[in-house]
Amino acid sequence: MTSPRRGLTPTGITRGLTSYGDAGLSAFIRRAFTKGMGFTDEDMARPVIGICNTFSEFNNCHSHFRGLAEAVKRGVWQAGGFPLEFPTISLGELFLSPTSMLLRNLAAMDAEEMIRAQPMDGVVLMCGCDKTVPAHLMAAASADVPAIVLTGGPMLNGRYEGRDLGACTDCRRVWAEYRAGTIDEQTVDAIEEALCRSAGTCMSMGTASTMAAIVEALGMSLPGCAAIPAVDARRLQLAERTGRQIVEVARQGIRPSRVMTAAALANAIRVCMALGGSTNAVVHLVAVAGRLGIDLPLALFDELSRATPLLANVKPSGAYQMENLFEAGGIPAVMKELEPLLDLDQLTVTGWTIGEYLAGVAKAERWREIIAPLERPLHPEGGLAILRGNLAPDGAVIKQSAASPNLLRHTGRAVVFSSLADLARVDDPDLDITADDVMVLQNAGPVGGPGMPEAGMLPIPKKLLAQGIRDVVRISDARMSGTAFGTVVLHVAPEAAVGGPLALVRTGDRIALDVPARRLDLLVDEAELAQRRAEWRPPASPFTRGYGRLFVEHVLQADRGCDFDFLTRSGR
Ligand code: FES
Repeated sequence: MTSPRRGLTPTGITRGLTSYGDAGLSAFIRRAFTKGMGFTDEDMARPVIGICNTFSEFNNCHSHFRGLAEAVKRGVWQAGGFPLEFPTISLGELFLSPTSMLLRNLAAMDAEEMIRAQPMDGVVLMCGCDKTVPAHLMAAASADVPAIVLTGGPMLNGRYEGRDLGACTDCRRVWAEYRAGTIDEQTVDAIEEALCRSAGTCMSMGTASTMAAIVEALGMSLPGCAAIPAVDARRLQLAERTGRQIVEVARQGIRPSRVMTAAALANAIRVCMALGGSTNAVVHLVAVAGRLGIDLPLALFDELSRATPLLANVKPSGAYQMENLFEAGGIPAVMKELEPLLDLDQLTVTGWTIGEYLAGVAKAERWREIIAPLERPLHPEGGLAILRGNLAPDGAVIKQSAASPNLLRHTGRAVVFSSLADLARVDDPDLDITADDVMVLQNAGPVGGPGMPEAGMLPIPKKLLAQGIRDVVRISDARMSGTAFGTVVLHVAPEAAVGGPLALVRTGDRIALDVPARRLDLLVDEAELAQRRAEWRPPASPFTRGYGRLFVEHVLQADRGCDFDFLTRSGR
């Protein structure tokens, strides 16, 4: 075989040489050091495929990634590529403080820069837990090297006393009942043992499953990838096929910017709506679009939600979980139902268009309990709604499919918590609150949180739980887990910490929520608000240095995806 030394082509292992002022020397040293790992000229003559592995023992959702990466490598070798695995930071949702969202942009920067700096003709991006998927999509969009995303798949269903349990929809339900005193400590302990039966991501339609479905709808993964359980052998088979296909994608030069078009993003929004997907998808998709230079206004989410029925009967909007959705045909079966509403000409990493691969997908006729037909949906509208009003001039998000129908149109008295720390008094027996009140949390947004934590599903005060109350209207500039539920208004923009109207709300004010009319209003006259605005002072930032300081100084508001201003396509 011809030595790649003679060619010095800017592909494969000699792509992007280290700068010593002598390209020949750089290539010579790189080849020598690659041989130092035991590889040969024959290996180096092949297209190099990076495998970005976010394995970490601080990330339970990715604990099976070592085996998955080996399966990808098998596929790469089979197809004539040269696989080289590399690590980037991993974000395990439940192992990070104060919140993984603070680190999403760091993960995106890490992946982007390592894809760009290292010599690779294509890359497989292995991700799964909530923020890792958008981070990798953002990185893929910015680096624009041929890429396939391989999500890790959901956990098996939790099982307790013959019933399926979902992380973390049922974590929240069980904990609320425990706080209400309706289940005892022993039961909570037993459920803690039974909830998470395997590696993989949360198995309800939380953020991880939503983002995995979005990856598939965008055409950035192989069809079927999102729903195969993490530990099912078919995921290893799909990983091997991903390894084979990335070599082809690299050879054909199919870059993410050709796959993630404006129409593909609209397809992804429709799939999200039909699934009752996570509110977090709004923030993440806007951030991905920003990397591509595509304008994705919140109004488009609302427009597509109104025109896309809810089809998937999956928690937290429905009754089933990802394992069941997989048996019913997974995301391809949902997309088959949505076929008349999708742009079928969009290219995918299969090399086919969406329409071409959907032509070979069957409808879920035997599984109508799990995937409703388009003509008989579970709900005529999608799961999410975008609200506006004087309390959220730049928008807010609610998951209407997981809210209490009787609270979707509600006016009540505000009970304000000024920060996450202030929530410590939520169980105070003297807290003046009724089921008709509206709980408001301030200073939990991108800057104020900091990092916009998933604290928007405020705990119901114990005194209300004791009265049998399980939902009240809650409003904040925070996010909430995609597995959470309730009448919870999130992502209020601008946030309180930068002086948004949310900062001006005081206990006793009246707030009107009208989801059918898409309105969120603070019923306080403008003169009074002007006076409060003049008195308002921003809260002190907890960060004086390092990444935290970079974050609060450059993070965009929720309606703009919470990316850093200098990372968008325009760099502003
Ligand atoms: Fe990783 Fe839920 S904790 S997906």
